[in-house]
Amino acid sequence: MSTLIKNGRVITAEQDYFADIFVEKDKITTLGANLTLQADKVIDAEGKYIIPGGIDVHTHMDMPFGGTTSSDDFETGTRAAAFGGTTCLIDFAIQSKGTKMREALDIWWMKGQKATIDFGLHMIVTDLPEAHLEDLNEMVREGVTSYKLFMAYPNVLMVDDATIFRAMRQTGNNGALVCMHAENGGVIDLFVQKALAEGKTAPIYHALTRPTTAEAEAVNRAIALSQMAGAPVYIVHLSSADALEKVSEARDKGIPVFAETCPQYLLLSIEDLDRPNFEGAKYVFTPPLREKWHQDKLWEGLRKNTLQVVSTDHCPFCFKEQKEMGRDSFAKIPNGGPGVENRLQLIHHHGVNLKRISLNRWVELVSTTPAKMFGLYPRKGTIAIGSDADLVVWDPNKELTISAHSHHMRVDYSMFEGFKVKGDAETVLSRGEVIVDKGKWSGKAGRGEFIKRNTYAGAWK
Ligand code: URP
Ligand code: ZN
Ligand code: ZN
Repeated sequence: MSTLIKNGRVITAEQDYFADIFVEKDKITTLGANLTLQADKVIDAEGKYIIPGGIDVHTHMDMPFGGTTSSDDFETGTRAAAFGGTTCLIDFAIQSKGTKMREALDIWWMKGQKATIDFGLHMIVTDLPEAHLEDLNEMVREGVTSYKLFMAYPNVLMVDDATIFRAMRQTGNNGALVCMHAENGGVIDLFVQKALAEGKTAPIYHALTRPTTAEAEAVNRAIALSQMAGAPVYIVHLSSADALEKVSEARDKGIPVFAETCPQYLLLSIEDLDRPNFEGAKYVFTPPLREKWHQDKLWEGLRKNTLQVVSTDHCPFCFKEQKEMGRDSFAKIPNGGPGVENRLQLIHHHGVNLKRISLNRWVELVSTTPAKMFGLYPRKGTIAIGSDADLVVWDPNKELTISAHSHHMRVDYSMFEGFKVKGDAETVLSRGEVIVDKGKWSGKAGRGEFIKRNTYAGAWK
């Protein structure tokens, strides 16, 4: 099977030029002006951009959490991702305390067999006695080259500093990367207990019991631990200016610290948690939404490369039935929100169209750096000869209103309901196969492959 994409404007993290792209089987094999090669399929991309498929390095499909399970599985979630121009994601396997990581990997690998696009896995480490350090190396051999550790959620996922340090010391040797959920879980827990004892049960207290200082303190501690271990660290879902400042200070000193933020922190605020009729529960995720002024600081962080990646932390729970579990206590609302479908649209519109970032930077944030950071580059994350033909024909002029009525995520609300954006994926190819074309789905469950990732590519910037 061969495909020729003609007349498109090719946008990568570094370049912006007009070219035709020839795809044979699953790879890009020729790039150039006015190609006359015979192809089984020709796509006319006149007036459109061709970008490397989006890579979302932070999703939670089919994840048991907070007494329920996230509502998208690997089939529905990856399908929704593809509609939005994302062709690869990295999800999280969760080690059960006292068990081998291998068991978790097998479970999540099975869940992933329904994926419609390629996927990788991080390993959430909940337990790491000295005797089990070899498990971490085993994961690297299996292509699981990053581990997430939690400084929050006591008695569930939280680990102590010694465990974090042990994992980081190991990554200093094996080249993998520690991803930190940085919030001071112990202190937050005390705030939560106090609020509940005072009868403060509404969704807004989820945010009021998780101050920005609790995030900044944990980011600072994670950086210090990584320095002592001689390893890089990647801060996930960074939400506040205070935390950003800690990352910025460290990077100025040349410490290899990296961080991602998510569209919700760039575009929503704590006011959303105060919506009437328990609607604030739709915005309960961790870290929480902050005061509006933090948004400008985060955009600045993206511009200055203090933040290198935009992921979604897609972790959907339906409003009816799932978020409802916390009607009488914000502490029982399952933490998480949907977003895997809208990342490229939102960052294109609010970043590129509103002149906060360039087109190249958009591609870099949503595809290229995620690929570099997590061992997928140059197989993915760019448009080059030999790379996977994970390509998006992007219509920069398509206007749409984001809504739960039209999205493809298996969840009954949108965090961005009513947001108007200009720019959307028109045609999406995954390893050379058209899976979305003008709103029509032609992919299938199980066609996505588990990608064994290389180790962290190094602090290139
Ligand atoms: O609220 C969130 N973010 N849920 C998913 C788990 C996590 O901490 O990433
Ligand atoms: Zn987290
Ligand atoms: Zn997450």
